[in-house]
Amino acid sequence: MGKTLKIAVLPGDGIGPEIIEQALKVTKAVCDKFGHTIQYKTALTGAIAIDEVGDPYPEETHQLCMESDAVLFGAIGHPKFDNDPTAKVRPEQGLLRMRKMLGLYANLRPVETFESLLHKSPLRKDLVEGADFMCIRELTGGIYFGEKGRSEDGNTAFDHCVYTREEVERILKLGFEYAMKRKKRLTIVDKANVLETSRLWRQIGQEMAPKYPEVETEFMFVDNAAMRIIQWPKSFDVMVTENMFGDILTDEASVITGSLGLLPSASIGVHTSVFEPIHGSYPQATGKDIANPIATVLSAAMMFEYAFDMKEEGALIREAVDASLAESYVTEDIAEGKSYKTSEVGTWLADYIAKK
Ligand code: IPM
Ligand code: MN
Repeated sequence: MGKTLKIAVLPGDGIGPEIIEQALKVTKAVCDKFGHTIQYKTALTGAIAIDEVGDPYPEETHQLCMESDAVLFGAIGHPKFDNDPTAKVRPEQGLLRMRKMLGLYANLRPVETFESLLHKSPLRKDLVEGADFMCIRELTGGIYFGEKGRSEDGNTAFDHCVYTREEVERILKLGFEYAMKRKKRLTIVDKANVLETSRLWRQIGQEMAPKYPEVETEFMFVDNAAMRIIQWPKSFDVMVTENMFGDILTDEASVITGSLGLLPSASIGVHTSVFEPIHGSYPQATGKDIANPIATVLSAAMMFEYAFDMKEEGALIREAVDASLAESYVTEDIAEGKSYKTSEVGTWLADYIAKK
């Protein structure tokens, strides 16, 4: 039986609105196919929200997110803020506040390769072929959210990195559970040779590991993990790590798949889950209809799977994406010969789904 899906749509900045439009076309096509009704509302976030209402995550937007079953998020960020370190209100604060207020403590970033794009990877085909791991990034703690400040003369700055046992336990639990559902290998990434927070992570990881005897648990320093992602990506199954390490490692991991424009993510936790591409707002491409919509479309697939527990719907979106790649109906970042516009790829994917 069809369901009614309430979705909050937050396009954000740069290419956000263009890629979100494609994800919506695909979402609507899937809903038509399976007899679901989609009820979506759009709200402001990011630089555009600062320009219009002076706040990167307005209360109204938060209310909409809270009332919805899922949030589909584009991207945020604008160069006018990146180049002004003195700006008090920044688009990124909107995203961070949203994560905190929705209690989204886990960011799931699956790193998967696509057979037809292996030649686009900066790594040798034999290294990257078959690489498939899940990076679980802690999202509401650590250095991103600790106290920050400057000395009176402005010449000294600090950012505190803080983690509590509760925060570490809940994210590691998710890591162990994912490992159980996959190949039962868990890599806990830290910098326990230097950081006290990392030593807490490692201690708790060691305490929890015996409760999951089937899972092969390893601890790895983040510098070593960064190296291993390019040296032997196939060695990972589930990786779990703190906020900033996860931010950095997943950008690195995403490019081994051939393009940053391909990887989706799901942020889950206490309130409504958020689905967003892992790439940024790509300001240079704004309005040019050239950005790759696949990461956002796959985020919509994750939305069906995770927020609505609709596996078939998600699978059909994945099938459409695979088909577009196989037929080279793709945007310029991954095209070999002829390339297509963002909007053309979105329409192609929606048509594929409609014809199924
Ligand atoms: C991401 C982004 C954000 C982060 C920025 C925009 C604050 O890079 O989602 O990975 O660092 O978390
Ligand atoms: Mn990032």
